[in-house]
Amino acid sequence: MKVLVIGSGAREHALCRSLSLDPAVTALHCAPGNAGIAEVAELHQVDALDGAAVSALAAELGADLVVVGPEAPLVAGVADALREAGVPVFGPSKEAARLEGSKAFAKDVMAGAGVPTARSYVCTTAEEVDAALNAFGAPYVVKDDGLAAGKGVVVTDDIEAARAHSAACDRVVIEEYLDGPEVSLFAVTDGETVLPLQPAQDFKRALDNDEGPNTGGMGAYSPLPWADPKLVDDVLHSVLQPTVDEMRRRGTPFSGLLYAGLAITSRGIRVIEFNARFGDPETQVVLARLQTPLAGVLMAAATGDLAHLEPLRWSDDAAVTVVVASHNYPGTPRTGDPITGLDEVAAQDAPHAYVLHAGTRREGDAVLSAGGRVLSVTATGKDLTEARDRAYTAVARVGLDGSQHRSDIAARAAADA
Ligand code: AMP
Ligand code: GLY
Repeated sequence: MKVLVIGSGAREHALCRSLSLDPAVTALHCAPGNAGIAEVAELHQVDALDGAAVSALAAELGADLVVVGPEAPLVAGVADALREAGVPVFGPSKEAARLEGSKAFAKDVMAGAGVPTARSYVCTTAEEVDAALNAFGAPYVVKDDGLAAGKGVVVTDDIEAARAHSAACDRVVIEEYLDGPEVSLFAVTDGETVLPLQPAQDFKRALDNDEGPNTGGMGAYSPLPWADPKLVDDVLHSVLQPTVDEMRRRGTPFSGLLYAGLAITSRGIRVIEFNARFGDPETQVVLARLQTPLAGVLMAAATGDLAHLEPLRWSDDAAVTVVVASHNYPGTPRTGDPITGLDEVAAQDAPHAYVLHAGTRREGDAVLSAGGRVLSVTATGKDLTEARDRAYTAVARVGLDGSQHRSDIAARAAADA
């Protein structure tokens, strides 16, 4: 099977790594990719938001399957263009990707499907904003309605900050605050059959102890030793399957990866958000534990054949990933700095620990930082403590001037396990 992956983050590196280990994959391509992905896949230049260009590349490569990683091409309709061209694609249509692209749309689908989520108001004027903020009280949760890569959300006790964020957006969703730990649960679906993966936890705040600004995610781990063993089944029946059924009922079936961001509150499971793609950095730890070869799973989803797939097999190992970010991330990051230590990790820590690249590029023999999130250092172990130790040992070998990473990824879960 010839596979083309669209995207250039650590998520795409994790996808390409797993696909490269799948004996069914005879050729692996990625566009645009990064310096790390280049070691496992052939890279191509393409405007990932241009459906015609991506379809032309898929045709030129004779791709049997295209996997679209990030949300922006999905929301731009790249999967639709591929489907029209007759190429099997893993990723939802533009209409279905609105589950991620519009928070208000997602709330409407959840209401139709009876899926539990935070109560909310959609507001466009300062008067509506004030009424909603006062109705819920602090802590205030204000979300930009549009696509914001996980950074359009402000959670604050300061009503002026809540008002200011609302004023900076055209349309906001203001909702009740959800207490309790967060869980990311992904499901592969062909629009009908829903196959949940293993749960993971993401660390969204920039600094240790969940302080600092929200980011796209600073680290993740799986499994969750503290979670109810029934969690996956409960979420399948109360959230994932009803949402997929509702999308099909609306005539916009969702096929691809449905990502449920959940809060386990004192009153039960609530959906915080849906995404229409694999999460980053959770994918790095979920795929590290998946033993079933990946290409067949994604192909079955793309071709409507998931009902016939064997149950997924999972390793009992734990996995931890630590994101190494540029100076000033999540603000405007500094880029162009050389990254050192990658060969040492490959020589001394593999196969249990390895570096997945996000914002990197190669210049001659050097690998340079090229974005806010630069690397996702991933490790497995017999438990979270061992996986964590291996991940941080590898992180310590990596040199990147001014870089930052959290030191407490999976610390509490490892200590409590
Ligand atoms: P979202 O982009 O909707 O995932 O929100 C980003 C982050 O903001 C989430 O991962 C939570 O940490 C936080 N958040 C979002 N909605 C809520 C809520 N209703 N209550 C508490 N925290 C929230
Ligand atoms: N880890 C958060 C996201 O992928 O949106």
